[in-house]
Amino acid sequence: MLLKQRNNKKNSKAIILIQNLKKIAKGKGPDKFLVDELIESGESWAYLKNENGIKILVKENDMTDEAFRIVGHDIFHFLKEKVAEADIEGAKAKLLPFLEGLMLSSYLFDRFLTKKPSLKVKFNCVYCPEEINSLHKEELINVTDAVFWARDMVNLPVSHLNAEQFSQQISELLSPLGVRVDILEKSKIEALKMGGLLSVNKGSIDPPTFTIAEYKPEGHKNKKPIILIGKGVVYDTGGLSLKPTPGSMDCMKSDMAGAAAVIGALCLAAKQKIKLHIVALIPATDNRPGMNAYTPGDVITMFNGTTVEVLNTDAEGRMILADALSYSEKYKPELVIDAATLTGAAVRAIGTHAAIVMGNAKDEVFDKLEKAGVQTHERVVRFPFWEEYKEDMKSKIADLKNIGGPNGGMISAGKFLETFVKAPYVHMDVAGPTWLDAKENYKGVSGTGYGVRLLYHFLKNY
Ligand code: BES
Ligand code: ZN
Ligand code: ZN
Repeated sequence: MLLKQRNNKKNSKAIILIQNLKKIAKGKGPDKFLVDELIESGESWAYLKNENGIKILVKENDMTDEAFRIVGHDIFHFLKEKVAEADIEGAKAKLLPFLEGLMLSSYLFDRFLTKKPSLKVKFNCVYCPEEINSLHKEELINVTDAVFWARDMVNLPVSHLNAEQFSQQISELLSPLGVRVDILEKSKIEALKMGGLLSVNKGSIDPPTFTIAEYKPEGHKNKKPIILIGKGVVYDTGGLSLKPTPGSMDCMKSDMAGAAAVIGALCLAAKQKIKLHIVALIPATDNRPGMNAYTPGDVITMFNGTTVEVLNTDAEGRMILADALSYSEKYKPELVIDAATLTGAAVRAIGTHAAIVMGNAKDEVFDKLEKAGVQTHERVVRFPFWEEYKEDMKSKIADLKNIGGPNGGMISAGKFLETFVKAPYVHMDVAGPTWLDAKENYKGVSGTGYGVRLLYHFLKNY
């Protein structure tokens, strides 16, 4: 969707006015707009129509930013079959979330439809008032593009996005922005002895990749980099411990949503020229029960020498992330954050409305993350990270085992990961909010792009 500066001569077919609705409630109607027909009037908006076109009034006051994003969504869908353009007026503070919701609603994953949906009119352009300056517009467009990229990556099935193709997509996204992208191939991963990533990949015929994306702008404020790690399991069958319940595999093309979030945020940091040195690490593979698949009972020597007894091949995310976490040590980072669709336990605990976060970084870091969560409505809930949970991960025959007890699985998984990283650490289990089975306002359906806006705002405020 295009965002354009308002041209006074412009006579758009729809006008969106963010103002107080009481006026129309009293039957007065807005100035210079003779109300022929009040089509619909809700708590937060009203649609009016006359021979000049459509006018949409949005209630200005006391609504949260999120409510304005949702109004943006509703209005997008109302307008999309009626007009091609809209002119917008209103208070700036509410215009930005409104526009964000409007723009994020325009996502459509129609890549595989031979007959693309044809709308009567495609609502594709918004004329903004001067208060929305070119910087705001650029940021809104960049945010939308990054979220849509992450949604595309999640929505692409493994038939079209294996580990190598995913790495290629990351490189194509970031290289033009001056981000250095290195894709380590299987031979290099073998030479580095990344036992976790290699073991998960054993049942696959597609090779794994380990992608390193480094953004180091001139004048960056942090002496030691921030490392972002994303789980890049392009498809998770569970491996030999095949996913047991019918349907539980249906959305497993989304098992790289953590990686998509991290790369989307890094892309935004680069586009918006955030002065931070950031390195993203993406271990990627599919997890399959092929001929030579790793098995329950296997003992794996990880990249840092730790031995892990595999007791469930479906707990593959931690195997590949562990190698990336210990690889990050070479950067002597000031902070390591991972985002991973790691456990069903996280989804069962809090559903799709937030990610679960935990770790040993300072409270200040969590406060900033929570603040970014409220700002973007990509919320996070902090869980405990007590040492007792680590007991669950002890093996009789190796340093660790890859599954814990029956309860609190999202935390024992986090404690497993923590042993592989020395720097201050935040683990984000994003299994819930990155995928929706049913459409939910501007977040859409299937891949939501969750985490892109959260991590971008976290970095921006850092
Ligand atoms: N990718 C899954 C977690 C998941 C489940 C993500 C549902 C999104 C929706 C992960 O690899 C997994 O299978 N985890 C296991 C771990 C268990 C075997 C310890 C789980 O949560 O069941
Ligand atoms: Zn799994
Ligand atoms: Zn998985």
